[in-house]
Amino acid sequence: MAIQTVSTTPFDDQKPGTSGLRKQVPTFQKANYLENFVQSTFNSLADYQGKTLVLGGDGRYFNRPAIQTILKMAAANGVGKTLVGQGGILSTPAASCLIRKYDAFGGLILSASHNPGGPEGDFGVKYNVSNGGPAPEKVTSAIFENTKSISEYKIVEADDVDLDTLGKTQLGEMTVEVVDAVADYADLMEKLFDFGKIRQLLKGDFSMCMDSLHAVTGPYARAIFEQMLGAKAGTVTNGEPLEDFGGGHPDPNLVYAHDLVETMFSSSAPDFGAASDGDGDRNMILGNNFFVNPSDSLALIAANATLVPGYKNGLSGVARSMPTSQAVDRVAEKLDIDCYETPTGWKFFGNLLDADKITICGEESFGTGSNHVREKDGLWAVLFWLNILAERQQSVEEIVTEHWKTYGRNFYSRHDYEGVDSAKANELMAGLRSQLSDLPGQPLGDYTVDYADDFSYTDPIDGSVSDKQGIRIGFTDGSRMVFRLSGTGTQGATLRLYLESYEPDEAKHSLDPQEALKPLIVLADEVAKIQALTGRDQPTVIT
Ligand code: G1P
Ligand code: ZN
Repeated sequence: MAIQTVSTTPFDDQKPGTSGLRKQVPTFQKANYLENFVQSTFNSLADYQGKTLVLGGDGRYFNRPAIQTILKMAAANGVGKTLVGQGGILSTPAASCLIRKYDAFGGLILSASHNPGGPEGDFGVKYNVSNGGPAPEKVTSAIFENTKSISEYKIVEADDVDLDTLGKTQLGEMTVEVVDAVADYADLMEKLFDFGKIRQLLKGDFSMCMDSLHAVTGPYARAIFEQMLGAKAGTVTNGEPLEDFGGGHPDPNLVYAHDLVETMFSSSAPDFGAASDGDGDRNMILGNNFFVNPSDSLALIAANATLVPGYKNGLSGVARSMPTSQAVDRVAEKLDIDCYETPTGWKFFGNLLDADKITICGEESFGTGSNHVREKDGLWAVLFWLNILAERQQSVEEIVTEHWKTYGRNFYSRHDYEGVDSAKANELMAGLRSQLSDLPGQPLGDYTVDYADDFSYTDPIDGSVSDKQGIRIGFTDGSRMVFRLSGTGTQGATLRLYLESYEPDEAKHSLDPQEALKPLIVLADEVAKIQALTGRDQPTVIT
């Protein structure tokens, strides 16, 4: 099979963001755009020749043609074997699981996560390393450097590979193995959770629903919940992965998972509801007329971990991203284990997990996970909750309110201002930065500023430093506000404002978070001039 060397010229916009290179589909469809990025990835890696690569995506528009291109390029670049999910499908956590299980040197995951799909939607390519996790910054910067000077790429001339039939085929010197996208992942889940207990729970009068939002978890959720755990047929809704996610926004939050939210906040709501995102790494957990804030979910999973077989020996430590609420810190304190605060993005958990400094970690953005893979894992979180519910035989609401009673409640909310003019967003952040040194010790409204900084993180394992990770303003009573710009959006800028206060008094735990946080919301606008600079009097999404 002939290997072609094709001349190309660099694009100037191939810097990987929080989760790989993410662009609108028409950008990825430009001649050589995908090829340049994939070749730059191979160029920046050493010692992969003859070894195994994992490849798959969330099934969005452009997934299949991209897989065909990548397979031909992998063959031309000397990869020994590529494992592809059947139909080109692999959820992000399942890809991570395969990389680890089959000792692959890495994986290419095709997804733009929770961003909409379709011909005008988003697409993305993310490289994961041999531990199964997103490439660390030194790898992504090497890829980016390569994209700036690339002049040629390699590809074999061959027919497209049949992605729908399980089994092995040869593409030049490389073996392509189309694997069941679900089986290995489902096996891993069965090892971690008490499937027997969950099966019993689902056999009784407990009712649940799982909304896969026409994204990648459909086949996984059907296999695990309906087939393996005996949930009744139809438990999984929107379970057919569609190239445009049925026109929806595959993000499991209160705004975009509206059908599920409507069901769960109705008079005939089931006991438990969950949703996951485009590529299956996020989760939202709901009880009957009850929303579980993801920061609380993380804290609760940590506090109840020993009820679950895979974690029965306890946790080595926990970690949360900086903007995530400090609810899990309180659990760690009680368990007498370390709690790490990392920058936003799953890649920062990788070293801590590899070194067994932590067992469980999570982000406020509906991401929770553990050392079982190196990605956050939506269905894992759902199974964790089911296992806890099966053990405790209480409702979701009872479990959460009991948790607040024990630890106090960290009121928490995130306000997103999407599609803001980039120049204005940068001006806003610069304005905040210019105030940082004056703020500590100053009164602000009824609060006194304790510290104000632009978060910087030194990785405790490899010493690498990541700075400018978001502006934190902390008050003497433990309340906080955090400002940062999204690294995953593809249109304009998204300003994220994170608000947190702590309430030990049980009598006040039933307050609405927006009410409880009102004084901080007002102050945030005063300090950052959000309305004046963005022209918005309301956030696009409130979580
Ligand atoms: C967002 C979330 C972040 C998450 C990332 C990938 O990034 O805030 O926690 O790791 O998506 O799922 P952002 O757009 O804020 O950069
Ligand atoms: Zn995702």
